[in-house]
Amino acid sequence: MQVKKYLVKCLHRLQKGPGYTYKELLVWYCDNTNTHGPKRIICEGPKKKAMWFVLTLLFASIVFWQWGVFIRTYLSWEVSVSLSVGFKTMDFPAVTICNASPFQYSKVKHLLKDLDQLMEAVLERIVAPELPRANATRALNFTLWNHTPLVLIDERNPHHPVVLDLFADNHNVSASGSPAPGRACNAQQCKVAMRLCCLNGTVCTFRNFTSATQAVTEWYILQATNIFSQVPTQELVKMGYSGEQLILACLFGAEPCSYRNFTALFHPDYGNCYIFNWGTAERALPSSNPGVEFGLKLILDLGQEDYVPFLTSTAGARLLLHEQRSYPFVKEEGIYAMSGTETSIGVLVDKLERKGKPYSQCTVNGSDVPIHNLYSDYNTTYSIQVAAALPPGPGPSGRPA
Ligand SMILES: *[C@@H]1O[C@H](CO)[C@@H](O)[C@H](O)[C@H]1NC(C)=O
Ligand SMILES: *[C@@H]1O[C@H](CO)[C@@H](O)[C@H](O)[C@H]1NC(C)=O
Ligand SMILES: *[C@@H]1O[C@H](CO)[C@@H](O)[C@H](O)[C@H]1NC(C)=O
Ligand SMILES: *[C@@H]1O[C@H](CO)[C@@H](O)[C@H](O)[C@H]1NC(C)=O
Ligand SMILES: *[C@@H]1O[C@H](CO)[C@@H](O)[C@H](O)[C@H]1NC(C)=O
Ligand SMILES: *[C@@H]1O[C@H](CO)[C@@H](O)[C@H](O)[C@H]1NC(C)=O
Ligand SMILES: *[C@@H]1O[C@H](CO)[C@@H](O)[C@H](O)[C@H]1NC(C)=O
Ligand SMILES: *[C@@H]1O[C@H](CO)[C@@H](O)[C@H](O)[C@H]1NC(C)=O
Repeated sequence: MQVKKYLVKCLHRLQKGPGYTYKELLVWYCDNTNTHGPKRIICEGPKKKAMWFVLTLLFASIVFWQWGVFIRTYLSWEVSVSLSVGFKTMDFPAVTICNASPFQYSKVKHLLKDLDQLMEAVLERIVAPELPRANATRALNFTLWNHTPLVLIDERNPHHPVVLDLFADNHNVSASGSPAPGRACNAQQCKVAMRLCCLNGTVCTFRNFTSATQAVTEWYILQATNIFSQVPTQELVKMGYSGEQLILACLFGAEPCSYRNFTALFHPDYGNCYIFNWGTAERALPSSNPGVEFGLKLILDLGQEDYVPFLTSTAGARLLLHEQRSYPFVKEEGIYAMSGTETSIGVLVDKLERKGKPYSQCTVNGSDVPIHNLYSDYNTTYSIQVAAALPPGPGPSGRPA
């Protein structure tokens, strides 16, 4: 009986459908919906109404919050990383070798004659300033010296540092600051600094050094760089070590090779550098087996007796393993191989591949990054170092993929 009554009631209700006022509509919705909350809010007593209202609001907010989280997660284009460890056939890296000394001294001696004489005199004065100078009047060419001299700064009175010229007693310094004779002070009491003046000589700054050795070395390198920069590159290439001279023997796996398999490149700091397997002309050589027997073996002749004195403090070969067609930043990333020893280098490759758009701002190979490649003469690929300043205007800031 009960069941029948209930069914009739249900039928009535369904037939009736929604009313025409909002309240009726709401009541009809609440009665017919199969979510629990709204129905109870309408139909229960005031206490339960309040309770159901709060509960419904709470859980509805949780649902919307979760939707928000999901949508946000989707739109951030998150990626998953797959990692595989193993050995497989891969490209043998490009190998750049340079001699630590950029030039052969016998071929650049005439360019550095004045500078070397000055350097000897400077060392004499800094190391042993008290000794009587037998050769004080030795004919030194002060053209270079007057351009960027080393000075001693006497700081015994911190409020009035006195600038002293190293050679004040045998030539006249034509610069501001009226340097006093350098006799009163040696490198232990005074600070060595390099004076850098603007062209008209009115504004000068001092590059201060904490150690005299560092000051003298840096001064020499600056002056030598200045001298070499006035010589055309073709001449400089001839003054460096030739490939034939540097690479005595070469073996790749079981295959013999020679200096002809290397690409020559002139590096401003290391002179002639030679790159094996750069991949510019033909495909990169594969490396399918690990181990010394399957790699590149070289015997180098560094010609150490002909190093430019003062210019390098190291004897050895500068080495860099890098990717095909990338410019070798030998000075920044290379390592030294000592002379007179055998050096063996093993390589473990971590290859990282980043997804491009829309996952991140990474580029596939940099060809679409709007930069000027400073090393485009060498057909090198994009890397952060080869990039000149971005042209004005917004552009994607690319990273190598
Ligand atoms: C002085 O200079 C001459 C040549 O210019 C050199 O032969 C001699 O050894 C020098 N003497 C000293 C004490 O340096
Ligand atoms: C000194 O060197 C400069 C260039 O470095 C040269 O022009 C000048 O002739 C030289 N002076 C002497 C006296 O050798
Ligand atoms: C320095 O220059 C002055 C004149 O300006 C001259 O009298 C003096 O002899 C010069 N000193 C040296 C060591 O050349
Ligand atoms: C020298 O050059 C500096 C900057 O290059 C300038 O400020 C100064 O006025 C110049 N002095 C003279 C006398 O030309
Ligand atoms: C070098 O030292 C001098 C004297 O102490 C000082 O006036 C100058 O500012 C210093 N230069 C730098 C770059 O710190
Ligand atoms: C070196 O070059 C020669 C001739 O150009 C070539 O036959 C040889 O395969 C090359 N060797 C290597 C290891 O690439
Ligand atoms: C770089 O990638 C683009 C497309 O991803 C391709 O068209 C282009 O040839 C590639 N350039 C080099 C040098 O590999
Ligand atoms: C750079 O590549 C172009 C074409 O791929 C080629 O013609 C040119 O000789 C290459 N330049 C160098 C320095 O390898």
